[in-house]
Amino acid sequence: SVGNVRALDSSTTLYAVIGDPIKHSKSPLMHNVALQSLDVNGIYTAFHVPPDELEQAIKGIRALGIGGVNVTIPHKERVMAYLDNIDESAQVIGAVNTIVRRDGKLIGYNTDGLGYVRSLKEEMIPHVSAARILLIGAGGAARGIAYALLKEGCQELIIANRTVERAQALADDLSPYGPIRVVPLLDAPVIDAEQVDIVINTTSVGMHPDVAAIPLNPDWLQPHMIVSDIVYNPLETALVQAAQRTGCRTHSGLGMFVYQGAIAFEMWTGKQAPAELMRQEVLRTL
Ligand code: ATR
Repeated sequence: SVGNVRALDSSTTLYAVIGDPIKHSKSPLMHNVALQSLDVNGIYTAFHVPPDELEQAIKGIRALGIGGVNVTIPHKERVMAYLDNIDESAQVIGAVNTIVRRDGKLIGYNTDGLGYVRSLKEEMIPHVSAARILLIGAGGAARGIAYALLKEGCQELIIANRTVERAQALADDLSPYGPIRVVPLLDAPVIDAEQVDIVINTTSVGMHPDVAAIPLNPDWLQPHMIVSDIVYNPLETALVQAAQRTGCRTHSGLGMFVYQGAIAFEMWTGKQAPAELMRQEVLRTL
């Protein structure tokens, strides 16, 4: 689609993702297709920024007037020190994935959990707040998703984690936003499967290359459940495959990636992101 690319000129806004490594990032393709389709005079690139250049890179973003930046591994935590303001979404998670420039100030957000929940709502279940949710894991991804679910008004949120203390710490930190019940993750969660509507895996269990790994005993799943995995490499994890065999509706982590980008795009441009187009572009490259 090179023929459709808008000519760059002296008003073109530059957007970018920074990380180390960065060559595998799907964000440039995904954002450029969105910018082009809405005829925004902007272009999105990737910068390889090693850790010892991070502070300089943020100064460069400021100096050059770069319009918006995504931040990925390993900079999501450390970048917070170099920004002017940190939004609640990033404060709670302790990590920034999106920088927005507003009135000359650089503001750090985290759109991962919010993106996940938007994907779940748009693709699977509009009234997600009425669902009884079991979330597996208590790491950074779990934190963002639990925060977003509680912000959504979720009534029943249970976290199962291998290390119970870690889940309890997460529940304590998020208690201002709503209640979380904590259970151990043994072979299967120690709760009645009848009482669970959505199961969400937020751990990396099942991610390439250990694709046979599964975070819970699949015999515990029941057909009435929606089973969601934040992993999207592979697109169908062992958990998702087991859930499909059980008769569950399933949801992969691709939506989280697409919508974390869509929310960033909307904050930067003020335009509604073409999420379906963005998804197709990422799918094309998987
Ligand atoms: P991230 O920031 O990507 O969420 P993380 O902070 O390292 O990553 O968190 C990893 C999560 O996956 C944790 O909930 C971890 O469980 P523990 O808190 O008990 O360590 C979970 N996890 C990782 N490997 C696991 C495994 N083999 N079985 C069960 N849980 C696992």
